[in-house]
Amino acid sequence: METKTMNIKIEKAKTSKIDKVDFDNLAFGNVFTDHMLVCDYKNGSWNIPEIIPYQPISLDPSAKIFHYGQSIFEGMKAYKDENNDIWLFRPLDNCKRLNISAKRMAIPEIPEDYFMEGLTALLKLEKDWIPQTPGSSLYIRPFIFASGTGFHASPADEYKFIIAFAPSGAYFSGKVKVLIEEKYSRSANGGVGYAKAGGNYAGQFYPTQLALEKGYNQVIWTDDNTHEFIEEAGAMNIFVRINDTLVTAPTSDRILDGITRKSILKIAKDEGIAVEERKITVSEIVEAAKNGSLKEMFGAGTAAVISPISAFGFRDVDYDLPEIGDNYASLLKKRITDIQYNRAEDKFGWRVKV
Ligand code: PLP
Ligand code: COI
Repeated sequence: METKTMNIKIEKAKTSKIDKVDFDNLAFGNVFTDHMLVCDYKNGSWNIPEIIPYQPISLDPSAKIFHYGQSIFEGMKAYKDENNDIWLFRPLDNCKRLNISAKRMAIPEIPEDYFMEGLTALLKLEKDWIPQTPGSSLYIRPFIFASGTGFHASPADEYKFIIAFAPSGAYFSGKVKVLIEEKYSRSANGGVGYAKAGGNYAGQFYPTQLALEKGYNQVIWTDDNTHEFIEEAGAMNIFVRINDTLVTAPTSDRILDGITRKSILKIAKDEGIAVEERKITVSEIVEAAKNGSLKEMFGAGTAAVISPISAFGFRDVDYDLPEIGDNYASLLKKRITDIQYNRAEDKFGWRVKV
């Protein structure tokens, strides 16, 4: 990664919480490191980012984030290899996607050098927090929200860009059972589904809660218009294997253009696996489950990595996926994590050293 050119001020925390953390038993995203990066947008421009001790944020009750939901985020990970070198995976793609989300939500775009240099400086300071326990990594949450005030329903004039870190283990423990949803919708044509906007997640919570009550872990969203096509899950893109072909829905303005998704497509092609990006109907999946041609289903995302799906529910019927030895999920998970943790050649040039 480029060397630091910006003068990022660092205020160090007086004490560290690191000794209190059980790095062998990390859950996902509920322990935070000692520092965070903060960058304010005021008077029409972004200030130079600063690093300060991790702490609560004070906001005016009329801050527009509370009323109109101008809030976007990213999800990334930092990995430590056995030589203690630190790696990021396609970080510029996250920065670019944050700015795609920013544009859609009328939030000012963050300059790429502020994002990259800010992130690098914070990672160097927090390097001891990057877990080396297998399956763990440092989850990185960059986000921007409207801190500017007023009840007028219009974009704020002030924003905060923050990066916070959480040493994390797996997002799902064990196999995932999903429910194919045909009443509620996550997103619509012309909407904000392709943005990582906070409201996209809030809107999923109620239908997902109903699914959790029925014993499912995630909802698979179908298109809002007909509910005939499988789109993606709440926190990951979805792949299905029909016979030997790996299929995923095409991206659209309703689906998040997942970085894991597009990496999996490349790796699968590189493995000689037949890959299709095309619309998948629910009836096709149900039929394939019945006739045995549906071999696998898995989710793909930064937090979820590759999460095999054990069964899906549709219209009160559960369809179990078979357990197959030479499954694509394990092969693709190994290939992508070997690149991320610097255990294998990075033939696509995705890994970035910090
Ligand atoms: N879809 C949704 C709705 C997500 O929240 C995520 C996670 O970021 C993904 C897909 C996967 O995207 P990525 O692989 O870039 O993490
Ligand atoms: C990620 O995978 O990084 C995400 O942002 C998903 C989130 C819901 C945990």
